[in-house]
Amino acid sequence: MQMKANQIAEDQRLEIRNYLDLDHREEMMRLVGEGLSAEPKWLHCKYLYDQRGSELFDEICQTREYYPTRTEMAIVERYAREIMDFFALGGGDLVEMGSGSNQKVRQLLDALPSRSLERLRYVPFDISESALVDAARELLDIYPRLNVMGIVGDYTRHLAALPSGRKLLVFFGSTLGNFNEQEGLELLKGVASAMNPHDRFLLGLDMVKPVEVLEAAYNDSQGVTESFLKNILAHLNRELGADFPLEHFQHKAFFNAQRECMEMHLQARQELTCRIDDLGLETRFTPGETIHVEIARKFTPDGAKQMLRQAGLAPTRWFSDEQGWFSLVELARVG
Ligand code: AVJ
Repeated sequence: MQMKANQIAEDQRLEIRNYLDLDHREEMMRLVGEGLSAEPKWLHCKYLYDQRGSELFDEICQTREYYPTRTEMAIVERYAREIMDFFALGGGDLVEMGSGSNQKVRQLLDALPSRSLERLRYVPFDISESALVDAARELLDIYPRLNVMGIVGDYTRHLAALPSGRKLLVFFGSTLGNFNEQEGLELLKGVASAMNPHDRFLLGLDMVKPVEVLEAAYNDSQGVTESFLKNILAHLNRELGADFPLEHFQHKAFFNAQRECMEMHLQARQELTCRIDDLGLETRFTPGETIHVEIARKFTPDGAKQMLRQAGLAPTRWFSDEQGWFSLVELARVG
């Protein structure tokens, strides 16, 4: 009985808006078809994140080599109060783009006195409905007064879903680094134009650092990153009736110094022909041929400032760790 009453109360504090529609699958079919017919082949990295992919990413964050999550978390812990000053001045929405696990948000919420917490609404924005709902329920359990409005959508297409009122947006993890220069700039411009003059945007950026550190982070010794990359093929096998033999692919990750990014590829160990049934497509691999799956751009302070200026965003505060490995930049829109 107790459980049930609690459950009802939770449901009243949770609203979910789903912006993913039929064209989500259509887009997937189009992008996969394009990428596998191209030369060189590519796949869009958003398809890394099905249920299993999200689990594997959480496992990556626990590896010794993958420093970004740990480093960013330490910055959030250290500056949570300053960051949350925003809600001392008035109520509003805490919007998290690409929500995932609740670790960082809990740090932020814990930094607030309960009366400020009552004036805040948490708005996670994520492409995976199940992951979003699970995480939201956990938070509702921990914070008995918190209201949550979840937005299930693709923030490259559904930014119009962002709430229009007073808000602090957070975009952790240096996920911006997964977009190329042009796409990243477009996303930042989109966020800037959804902001009111007094809104703030907290953006996580992973910085350029010694190449050994970078390459180790994407080639962990337990092979979790390799499983994570290969899961994109498993996802296509499940979702599009494909028959990629995962064991015939290997993971290649290296730093491209000229583009200042990590590149992640899947390489065919031998000649292969794979079918993607739902696309009526056959794709051939020569031995050693690769599929480009992901980039993870690394930023310099000057490069970041220039990109932000171009997007119409101005840093108001810049939080970092002692080594300067990771930045959390607080931004306001210009004009
Ligand atoms: C989740 C985008 C921050 O780019 O470091 C980790 C994804 N890929 N290892 C990153 C990832 C391979 C990660 N982000």
